[in-house]
Amino acid sequence: MLGEGENFVASDIPAIINRTRRTYILSDGEMAIVTSDSVWVMNRQGVPVSKKVFEVHWDAEAAEKGGYEHFMIKEIYEQPKAIRETTTGRLAKDDTGILFDELKWTKDDIAGIHKITIVACGTAYHAGIVGKYYLEQLARIPVEVDVASEFRYRSPLVDDKTLAIFISQSGETLDTLAALKEAKKLGARTLAVTNVVGSSIAREADQVIYTQAGPEIAVASTKAYTTQLIGLLMLSVYLASLRGTLPEERVKAIIQGLRALPAQAHEILEDVESIKTFAQKYGFSEDVFFIGRSLDYAVALEGSLKLKEISYIHAEAYAAGELKHGTLALIIEGVPVIALATQRDVYEKTLSNIKEVKARDAVVIGIGMQGDKQLEKYVDHTIFVPATEKYLAPILAVIPLQLPAELM
Ligand code: BG6
Repeated sequence: MLGEGENFVASDIPAIINRTRRTYILSDGEMAIVTSDSVWVMNRQGVPVSKKVFEVHWDAEAAEKGGYEHFMIKEIYEQPKAIRETTTGRLAKDDTGILFDELKWTKDDIAGIHKITIVACGTAYHAGIVGKYYLEQLARIPVEVDVASEFRYRSPLVDDKTLAIFISQSGETLDTLAALKEAKKLGARTLAVTNVVGSSIAREADQVIYTQAGPEIAVASTKAYTTQLIGLLMLSVYLASLRGTLPEERVKAIIQGLRALPAQAHEILEDVESIKTFAQKYGFSEDVFFIGRSLDYAVALEGSLKLKEISYIHAEAYAAGELKHGTLALIIEGVPVIALATQRDVYEKTLSNIKEVKARDAVVIGIGMQGDKQLEKYVDHTIFVPATEKYLAPILAVIPLQLPAELM
């Protein structure tokens, strides 16, 4: 990174953003000799490489804690802004479609895609599971989701009819990058969904959708996840419009829901009392279970990871209907079960699973949509998120699951 009378070497831009905004981004196999007043970049053979200066346009403030105790809580609270910025310029003014200038796909371009493979790690992998529901239900293309550290070693069935999507906040996770290279070798079309401009994954993929979450410093991913879901939802609607698999009024409803989302996320973050009550009451539990069906199950996986990663509490997420096949034995008196119930098409089924855990004297915390009069009758505590489109519910429902670790 290029300063005035000083130069820096850093693994990521935020590390040095307060000293300079001018950088060289090294590609694989490149080396540099850095002194206080010169930077020489060369390849493995020592042949000089001419590099273009990459100017960083992020707000320097954005990489600071801005009054919050630490980065994770700051980033949780930045979600309304991150959501707004990720949709900016990508929603048609009349709500009739998604604009992806970075893709510019036509019907012919996508006609040859027979399947989609999503590959990622950690939270980004959980975003990929939500993406599977979005892409299959809206664009009607078969989707498989893989953790990146498995993908390379299982002789994946990927070819030139596959669109391989790689999700990564940092764009630098080694397993994801290696999986991307493998998919390219097998002939797949590759698309990165990443937050960091000029990152290795962004440079390696054929095309990129940038999430506009701003720098995410905390290791535990929060605003990157919500914006990854938005990127994947917009991609699904975009593909659905090209493939004619989604009626216009559904496209409109989703886009209008996306427009309302920043204010709704803000509303959740403004009133965290119910989340705080539950966090303080059950924060000392040894085990916590998360259950949900359909998209709620995908969110349960992420809620469970956040609790483990931040609070060191043992947590498990189950597809609510799967719990009875063995694990129900672990649901004993007083064990907290967080039951997500935002999805109307599986609502009654979820309620019956809630009854199963209540019968074993679990303490059930239900997460539902505002206006749901029934849920309170079945659970011990409720946390409501603003009512929205079913595909947008995961983006709101995850917020109360990111917060408990912070509020204990
Ligand atoms: C892990 C983090 O180490 O990396 C997760 O704890 C994150 O929060 C994962 O989701 C993957 O990182 P990335 O940058 O590829 O999205």
